[in-house]
Amino acid sequence: MYKLIAFDAYGTLFDVYSMGQLADELYPGHGQALALMWRDRQIEYTRLVTMSDPSPSGSKYYLPFWELTIRSLRYVCKRMGLELSLENEQRLMNQYAKLTSFEDSLRVLMAIKDHGISTAILSNGSREMLNTVVQSNGLHPYLDQVVTIEDVRLFKTAPQAYELLLKAFPVKKEEILFVSSNAWDALAAKWYGFDVFWVNRLGHPYEEIGMQPNYVGDSLSKVLDVV
Ligand code: LAC
Repeated sequence: MYKLIAFDAYGTLFDVYSMGQLADELYPGHGQALALMWRDRQIEYTRLVTMSDPSPSGSKYYLPFWELTIRSLRYVCKRMGLELSLENEQRLMNQYAKLTSFEDSLRVLMAIKDHGISTAILSNGSREMLNTVVQSNGLHPYLDQVVTIEDVRLFKTAPQAYELLLKAFPVKKEEILFVSSNAWDALAAKWYGFDVFWVNRLGHPYEEIGMQPNYVGDSLSKVLDVV
């Protein structure tokens, strides 16, 4: 079956929506909206950077994901009329650096390794931020590689981003299962040619374009049903 199971990081292995709780402490009543808009703007910036210069050598507008995350936070606070003090920015970004993994992330990675299947992260995240969050959650012993788009300076959903997995592992496209909780990411990975598992924790609808995912589950643990 699959020789490699590759995971998206933010929202899939690590709980980005927990940012809403801290945001709500800092801006009572606005936390959830802030967290959602923040996430959307962050992804929008990755697309803007990538689409505006999709050169093979990388986008000349490239900024690391960490930087785009800060800039999108600043934008969203301005847009919502919330004052982002330096202290609040640092608190939010410190929490982002140390996001907690979902309760089943570790167990799922361990079980996949037990089956003799390789594991990886494929993320938009910068190498340093990924290493920090992987280590702080103790996931590093169960990940063969942490692959970042930093090497191509083009964010997902550029095909060059997904292609990194084929460069990092001696496997064929069809031997890879890509797991993401982001429907857009699952859809693009499917377009690229991977089998995909969409983790739909929130019961959202899938995208209205493209092909359906190969598998859907309401938690990461459900990935174990297909390995
Ligand atoms: C990532 C974002 C897209 O980790 O979740 O790549």
